[in-house]
Amino acid sequence: MSAARLRRSVTAQEPSATPSPAVAAVVVLAAGQGTRMRSATPKVLHTLGGRSLLGHVLAATEPLGAATTVVVVGSGRDQVEAHLASVAPGALAVVQEQQLGSGHAAEVALAAVPDVEGAVLVVNGDSPLLTSRTLETLVAAHAAAGSVFTVLTAEVDDPTGLGRIVRDDRGAPQAIVEERDATDEQRAIREVNAGVYVANAATLRRVLAGIGTSNAQGEQYLTDALAPLVSGGAPTAAVLADDPEDVLGCNDRAELAARRRTLNDRVLGELMRAGVTVVDPATTWVDVTVTVAADAVLEPGTQLKGATTVASGAVVGPDSTLVDTEVGEGASVVRSHVLGASVGPAATVGPFSYLRPGTRLARGTKVGAFVETKNVQVGEGSKLPHLSYVGDATIGESANIGAATVFVNYDGVAKHHTTIGDHVRIGSDTMLVAPVTVGDGAYTAAGSVITTDVPPGAMGVARARQRNVAGWVLRRRPGSAAARAAEAAGHAGAEAGADTRTTASE
Ligand code: UD1
Ligand code: CA
Repeated sequence: MSAARLRRSVTAQEPSATPSPAVAAVVVLAAGQGTRMRSATPKVLHTLGGRSLLGHVLAATEPLGAATTVVVVGSGRDQVEAHLASVAPGALAVVQEQQLGSGHAAEVALAAVPDVEGAVLVVNGDSPLLTSRTLETLVAAHAAAGSVFTVLTAEVDDPTGLGRIVRDDRGAPQAIVEERDATDEQRAIREVNAGVYVANAATLRRVLAGIGTSNAQGEQYLTDALAPLVSGGAPTAAVLADDPEDVLGCNDRAELAARRRTLNDRVLGELMRAGVTVVDPATTWVDVTVTVAADAVLEPGTQLKGATTVASGAVVGPDSTLVDTEVGEGASVVRSHVLGASVGPAATVGPFSYLRPGTRLARGTKVGAFVETKNVQVGEGSKLPHLSYVGDATIGESANIGAATVFVNYDGVAKHHTTIGDHVRIGSDTMLVAPVTVGDGAYTAAGSVITTDVPPGAMGVARARQRNVAGWVLRRRPGSAAARAAEAAGHAGAEAGADTRTTASE
């Protein structure tokens, strides 16, 4: 089958309607050093949209349902293996001791799974924009063409650095030529190798064993598998991807930033089509792992990361970062930093709140400006309106925590818990020295340092009584503006020297 016909048949196909033919195995090449990243972190562990490069590739291959997934590791293998164990524990890590090239890497992978036969998908570990749909299309085209080696290609405006697809007069693929080894004429070709291949396992094992290293890099190129198969008369194919962006690799930080932007545009595009208002897509960043319901609003400068979920009618932003956080229906989070928290329906957070892990805000609660919370459960309708630290606590319903309250949870050795009942009124500037309990309906006086429990309905007062030293200003600051003001007010110091004690506001 000619490549031209194949291209047409692939484009005409509706992949989601056809169950994809199985691949026996997926091989991900992830041993390369990633020199161009200039990083202590292995290239495939760099992240975008909440996943590593490798994680994205594995997520794209997963729906193919291959029984075996092999990941070739080498550079930074300990880190890559540890990561793999957490994101794809079922995958088999195979070590390529020396990075002798992508062809060598594929050979090492296949040698580790000698029983695998039939179609195998081989994919570079640094193509984070690959979609399952593109892979399914490729696998289907490979099967339909009766091919033994099928390469995914893309037509790009700037093919710099990529392998070129050389086709014959009839459009049949002849060879993949790396840029460094290409003639000027070949360099002008804009159809490039995506670094994604489907091949018959036995054929690939055989052809890889015969590949040499006579190229500019002195490496065993996987791309060199095509030409010998073509000259041997084997059926091969080159399939053009519908969306050239799908296949873009990631070799340095500039490309990483560009892929991140593209991925984010895709995520936001999906959200907007699903009914989410994204006020400023240019400054809104949402991980692929996040869920946002229809009729939620994301204001400018919003970043949603990890396992974050935002319910309908909620408003997040402007300028807020939420990590692993649940935002309930109709809640709002304004200019805040929120980690591992749960914000209940109709709750309001911010501006300038810092919610740390274990914060659980029930329905209709309020956390206001310059409030930090950690490991705290706040009951329905309760308020922490201003300037407080609230850590290691359980707060009942409809309680009010006055401005500048500190939950003193740490004695330098251990953390202790504070329990606040329903309808409690904590006066401003109260220090609640844990462990301590304030019972239902109790109050504390402003400025109190509460070290023992306050029973239900009681007023806890723990502060020095006020005394006024009459005439002090006239004696100690004579002639000052303050003294003149006092004189004008008629307090000329008649009671000079006398102290008066006021009655505490009990
Ligand atoms: C490769 C292709 C190129 C294609 C481009 C698409 C080769 C020779 N060239 O080029 O035709 O256009 O991808 O992005 O394959 N790897 C190993 N072990 C090694 C060497 C590499 O596992 O010894 C892995 C890398 O981790 C990487 C992949 O193979 O995931 C490709 O290697 P890389 O160096 O990125 O190849 P490119 O120069 O991008
Ligand atoms: Ca690459």
